[in-house]
Amino acid sequence: MHIRYLTAGESHGKALVSIIEGIPNGLRLDTGLIDRELKKRMKGYGRGKRMLIENDKAEILSGTRKGKTLGSPIAILIKNKDYRIEALSAITSPRPGHADLAGVLKFEETDIRNILERASARETASRVATGAIARILLGNFGIEILSHVTAIGGVKAEGEKLSFKGIKGTLEKSPVRCRDLRASRLMCREIDKAKARGDTLGGVFEVVACGVPVGLGSYTQWDKRLDAALARAVMSIPGVKGVEVGSGFCAACEPGSRVHDEILFNGKLKKFSRRTNNAGGIEGGISNGENIVLRAAMKPIATLSKPLASVNIKSKKTTKAAVERADVCVVPSAGVIAEAVLAIEIACAFTEKFGGDSLPEMKRNYEGYIKRLRKR
Ligand SMILES: Cc1cc2nc3c(=O)[nH]c(=O)nc-3n(C[C@H](O)[C@H](O)[C@H](O)COP(=O)(O)O)c2cc1C
Repeated sequence: MHIRYLTAGESHGKALVSIIEGIPNGLRLDTGLIDRELKKRMKGYGRGKRMLIENDKAEILSGTRKGKTLGSPIAILIKNKDYRIEALSAITSPRPGHADLAGVLKFEETDIRNILERASARETASRVATGAIARILLGNFGIEILSHVTAIGGVKAEGEKLSFKGIKGTLEKSPVRCRDLRASRLMCREIDKAKARGDTLGGVFEVVACGVPVGLGSYTQWDKRLDAALARAVMSIPGVKGVEVGSGFCAACEPGSRVHDEILFNGKLKKFSRRTNNAGGIEGGISNGENIVLRAAMKPIATLSKPLASVNIKSKKTTKAAVERADVCVVPSAGVIAEAVLAIEIACAFTEKFGGDSLPEMKRNYEGYIKRLRKR
């Protein structure tokens, strides 16, 4: 079984819809968990007024019975409260940094509204709901994923390495999902200042998956490489402009002796491990059993309340870019979306390795593999 999914829906359309296929039969779906992930995405200091209007909740339309999956495609619906798509007026001043201009030229459009409705990151709510299902599947195998913000608008968090234990509580306390609460306060202040100037901010987030077994992904074909699949998924989040795995760009400036992770063997646990994790849990396109760590750089939001120069697409006269209701900074939400897309990609690689039409079959395959690893 392969996992694949599609999303549909416009920012101010009636609803967002997604279909995910390849989730095995017999998985108990906790819809509360899906809604909690949707809430997590909506939060974060710097979000705009739209998030005060919406109250995202997932409705499962197919693929389940009595709370468990049937092995058939699962369709998920998230209704939009603000669904004025037919009433909204035309836009003719493209915003730099958005799909607006390239979109109208590509689709032979005269109204930018017809571009931005789908280009909007509202679509990512569907991905978070879909990712929550993948997360539930992975949870059955002890795999957990979380994200945290490491920089916003030039303010950087202290401490590079993430320890999974006890971090969730700290992240809940931070309005920007940053475990360094002092930096978190400074980040909020920077967001306030940017907002007052009519400006926006970007930043950096890290997403970590723990409990991933050795052996997901493969070097045998370019598109089977796990790092490539994960990087693509994170890069597909609107506004993300850079992705690194493990120590990424820093590794390029260090000698090999300081980059590659020395191999250890724990006789008691009968397990290989690493002294460090600069590889970010992936070597040769294969998970190596360490935490999977990716970092992503997000550009500042493209809609500015003090707009940049633009050109009216009809008159060709110089004008100011359109101003839409917008967020000021969404780095914490982008991290939550990255958790979701990572969950989907890891679930894809997981189902490819362990197969099975039902959860019990998948568990048998997984347990047999883990047992064999211990015998080596
Ligand atoms: C959760 C989230 C919310 C966003 N909200 C806005 C917004 O309110 N206004 C805006 O102009 N861009 C917003 N963006 C960013 C744009 O979607 C993004 O800059 C735009 O699609 C162009 O980015 P791209 O070149 O990476 O596609 C948001 C992105 C995310 C991930």
